[in-house]
Amino acid sequence: MRALEGVRILDFTHVQSGPTCTQLLAWFGADVIKVERPGTGDITRGQLQDIPKVDSLYFTMLNHNKRSITLDTKHPKGNEVLERLIGACDVLVENFAPGVLDRMGFPWERIQELNPRMIYASIKGFGPGPYEDCKVYENVAQCAGGSASTTGFDDGPPLVTGAQIGDSGTGLHLALGIVAALYQRGRTGRGQKVLAAMQDGVLNLCRVKLRDQQRLKAGPLTEYSQYGQNIPFGDTVPRAGNDSGGGQPGWILKCKGWETDPNAYIYFITQAPVWEKICDVIGEPEWKSHPDYATPKARLPRLKAIFDRIQQWTMTKTKFEAMEILNRDDIPCGPILSMKELAEDQSLRATGTVVEVDHPTRGKYLTVGNPIKLSASPADVKRSPLLGEHTDEILRDVLGYSGDEIATIREATQPAQKRVAAE
Ligand code: COA
Repeated sequence: MRALEGVRILDFTHVQSGPTCTQLLAWFGADVIKVERPGTGDITRGQLQDIPKVDSLYFTMLNHNKRSITLDTKHPKGNEVLERLIGACDVLVENFAPGVLDRMGFPWERIQELNPRMIYASIKGFGPGPYEDCKVYENVAQCAGGSASTTGFDDGPPLVTGAQIGDSGTGLHLALGIVAALYQRGRTGRGQKVLAAMQDGVLNLCRVKLRDQQRLKAGPLTEYSQYGQNIPFGDTVPRAGNDSGGGQPGWILKCKGWETDPNAYIYFITQAPVWEKICDVIGEPEWKSHPDYATPKARLPRLKAIFDRIQQWTMTKTKFEAMEILNRDDIPCGPILSMKELAEDQSLRATGTVVEVDHPTRGKYLTVGNPIKLSASPADVKRSPLLGEHTDEILRDVLGYSGDEIATIREATQPAQKRVAAE
């Protein structure tokens, strides 16, 4: 028995944000039925393809453990099937552009009529307000949610980050909203609307920067390294380079081999409780009692010089040697790991965070498994479905259509579609 066993999800999601959410729910044991447009399906099936005519890694890595049904929901017959699916499912998840589901004939009021227990969960770029009708992709959300303005170096342009905080981040937020709504439904018997806007999700993840915006009123942000370099603060939170976002100063430092290896770096945190150990490791024992270095406050204006000195030491070690030495003294640090190193990391394989999956047309590939581990509900990562692979099965087993009816539906809604499952 897995955590969400018995919960059926009508997965009307596409691209990255929504599929991230429904994939998580599937890993927790929900039956996720992905509705896709006949012929093309989720647009990512064909995007960034590394093998011609084979579902892309973009698609496969976001759609594990789901079933796929193809349905032209704008055709009256397809629309009728969708209506029955709404009656048969617990949660509808969608991340279409604003208004799409209304145009399809399924505004919230109609969904409630069809199934009062239905939880209707949406991702949109923006919440209600001036931009509510906009289409939004990852980097738009990073820019509108405060991430880009606070990422990068103080003398450079705003930067987007490789972590997909707008798409995957909002998918995570929505999954939590759905589980909470399911819990509430257990007591009220009624569904509700759940909305996660990408701008809101990014801003939530940038919470500490809104903290700093308000702290600016009280004077310069002394833990930002620009403070020690006498670079004046303006009226908005600046980009802080690799400064740590909290009260323990940190920076990315070069390690042995940095001249040729773009990832020979380590993140080093000068945590106050281990300052004396840091002084011993880098060979500056007198800093332990020197008034310019002995207290966190005294160190703040000198952070650049301190990290330059620590870097002289880290450059004599590889990032893994430095890790080992520093961890012996509980000095918080982290190697900059490349995607290649992560893909080859055996401990991540052992925990199921990196998983090898077999796919009928692609063969073996690596994916990120469920990062959330439930002791009584382990996730078993199963390959993504082929387009329409489960159409007949869902029409028959979930909706109770007869063989003749299924043939009519197929004929009416997807005349050009090959019967993938039968091939
Ligand atoms: N059968 C028939 N039509 C279907 C269908 C099906 N099974 N599935 C989708 N469609 C139609 C929809 O009805 C809609 O048509 P309409 O505009 O005529 O009503 C259309 O396909 C898809 O709509 P849309 O969502 O606008 O797709 P898009 O490719 O133009 O835009 C996004 C993509 C991501 C920009 C947009 O969906 C969006 O802003 N989503 C919300 C924010 C979000 O999640 N962004 C991140 C994505 S990772």
